[in-house]
Amino acid sequence: MNRFIPYGRQFIDEDDIKAVVEVLKSDFITQGPKIFEFEKKLAEYCGAKYAVVFNSGTSALHAAYFAIGLSQGDEFITSPITFVSTANAGIFLGAKPVFVDVEEDTGNIKSDFIEEKITNHTKLIVPVHYAGHPCDMKKIKEIADKYSLFVVEDACHALGAKYKDSKIGSCKYSDMTVFSFHPVKHITTGEGGAVLTNKEEFYEKLLMFRTHGITKTKFENEPHGMWYYEMQFLGYNYRMTDIQAALGISQLRKLEKFIEKRRKIVQIYNKSFRNNPYFEIPIEKDYAFSAYHLYPIRLNNKYKQKKKKLFEELRKNNLGVQVHYIPVYWQPYYQKLGYKKGICPNAEDFYQREISIPLYPKMSDQDIKYVIEEIFEVFKEA
Ligand SMILES: Cc1ncc(COP(=O)(O)O)c(C=O)c1O
Repeated sequence: MNRFIPYGRQFIDEDDIKAVVEVLKSDFITQGPKIFEFEKKLAEYCGAKYAVVFNSGTSALHAAYFAIGLSQGDEFITSPITFVSTANAGIFLGAKPVFVDVEEDTGNIKSDFIEEKITNHTKLIVPVHYAGHPCDMKKIKEIADKYSLFVVEDACHALGAKYKDSKIGSCKYSDMTVFSFHPVKHITTGEGGAVLTNKEEFYEKLLMFRTHGITKTKFENEPHGMWYYEMQFLGYNYRMTDIQAALGISQLRKLEKFIEKRRKIVQIYNKSFRNNPYFEIPIEKDYAFSAYHLYPIRLNNKYKQKKKKLFEELRKNNLGVQVHYIPVYWQPYYQKLGYKKGICPNAEDFYQREISIPLYPKMSDQDIKYVIEEIFEVFKEA
């Protein structure tokens, strides 16, 4: 077989294409009715009061951090096992990311380590539901309440996941939850993101932040006439288009099926890879229903040293494996800011062991079988 099997990819069908074409033929191609419909359906699905969609997960994070008032001189706590934008979005606002080490098994922030990193400047905790496995939200919320901190969930990997009985996105244990709709995620709008919240105050700020800080309803000054609008703070053009929102609505209808398929593939992988001598497989804690954005394997000691070669061999055999993630503070930009290597040993060890193997709803039985066989083949030779 020569076909390259990526670690993740979108699932687009004829219904999705039809939904997009309909918008292209309509009066509104941006900020029309599809945006509001997508937001309503997303909020309903997650069980939150409000959803505001953005043109990326990164802009959604930026908006959520802005809405809680994160600014110059503030610190926020997050995990280094994440995509850089979780931390970057706070730096956009002049705040300082403080990295807390992760659990060895899930790669999620270790709640027991959070309190020791809280200072007088800490304003926010950003748990990242790595690979779709929810963090221990009850504990994190208790710490946040004890120190009067905000919580924004980076759930870019976790649409469709549950913590205990509540859907990620319901914001039962947080102020806001952020999703990404990049093509490798659970549903896609090409590029896109969203913030979910139950608080009207945040909702209004998010709407304005998305469009230059402008409002057409609540004014500080006397309106000059019907045309009047006011820019009350510095916002951005972070708007999603109706073309994307139509795709999002159509994708959302299939989300449960996508999750089901992901979990079915995970079951097959788990059965095939359980107790193998080469690597550990992902776990699901008793409070978690994972949305399985990724299937991160963690190499055993002997194979950890051989990761570079193993990765190359897997790629040579057309497996589009990937690594999630290089600890954020190892990046040259963060090193130049003064972050030292060694500050989160579990995260560094996790990075040195981790490889994400292909997992996406469009995988055929043949693809799944091929991935399993090739992995065994490559490790046997290592
Ligand atoms: C954990 C995490 N946070 C944030 C983002 C940023 O999302 P986007 O790529 O939609 O800007 C991503 C996307 O890769 C992510 O995986």
